[in-house]
Amino acid sequence: MPVAIRILRTVADVRAWRGTAHDVGLVPTMGALHDGHRALVERAVRESERAVASIFVNPTQFGPNEDHRAYPRNEAADLAMLELSGAAAFVPTTEDMYAPGDDTRVVPGDIASRLEGAARPGHFTGVCTVVAKLFEIVRPTRAYFGQKDFQQLRVIQTMVRDLGMQVRIVPCPIVRADDGLAFSSRNRYLTADERRPAAALSRGLFAARDAWDRGERDAAVLRSTVERIASEAGRPDYVSVADPVTLREVEGSAGRAVISLACRVGRARLIDNVLLGMSLDELARQ
Ligand code: PAJ
Repeated sequence: MPVAIRILRTVADVRAWRGTAHDVGLVPTMGALHDGHRALVERAVRESERAVASIFVNPTQFGPNEDHRAYPRNEAADLAMLELSGAAAFVPTTEDMYAPGDDTRVVPGDIASRLEGAARPGHFTGVCTVVAKLFEIVRPTRAYFGQKDFQQLRVIQTMVRDLGMQVRIVPCPIVRADDGLAFSSRNRYLTADERRPAAALSRGLFAARDAWDRGERDAAVLRSTVERIASEAGRPDYVSVADPVTLREVEGSAGRAVISLACRVGRARLIDNVLLGMSLDELARQ
């Protein structure tokens, strides 16, 4: 008989659900769940005694002119997906996560200063703060993060290392639609006419990956390969060829690299990346 989904609405609910389990997997999300989230949740269920996905559109990681209010929300569909996957759902209120007067923040260092951190001031402070709170509430053994938000993954790994948090971060590969576009909650902002050009972003990244596989290592050549194709989607905010560990821009020849980009297509600001010369398993050991 199928077990009804456990919906945890308060911190007390989470503590009771967690109990004395030795092995708890957490997938932090902002909801509007798609196949990318599903892959993380299914892995957490597979690898853990108990698995929970949090659904919380975290206000502190949105800038004043960003889409916090418009961010897609669809709790009923999210809960249905989690029920099928066999994970519990933690759906706190804003007051649960940020009591009145709460102004303590977890501020990441250098790793958060470039790329998305430069484009979205304060974004990673909001991310680190809410993820640290979720870790404290759930006390997971493992927490699952997507390569899709590569810098976020590195910022969280660095926070866990620097603060000595007792959780293992599990990086998970990017899940893509048939046309190559990485799944994202923000893809819902794309109109039918914007969807085709949006696929040029991943095509550009794949072209650079093909060049890498043929032996190309020059960062400038890799960058311009992406730019040439991705520009069919719009003018990217940035195309970066960086070291996957430090996220410092590579000049000259790259021994390993993460090529990442951000580009606005219609109302959606999309990000994507490819990791070259290094596996996610190697990255997990950072
Ligand atoms: P959200 O954008 O909902 O993403 C939740 C998790 O799903 C992140 O770890 C993200 O990298 C992963 N993810 C998103 N799209 C993916 C895809 N196509 N393939 C694989 N994984 C994918 O990231 C956040 O929420 C928030 O910043 C959060 C960490 C929850 C803090 O508020």
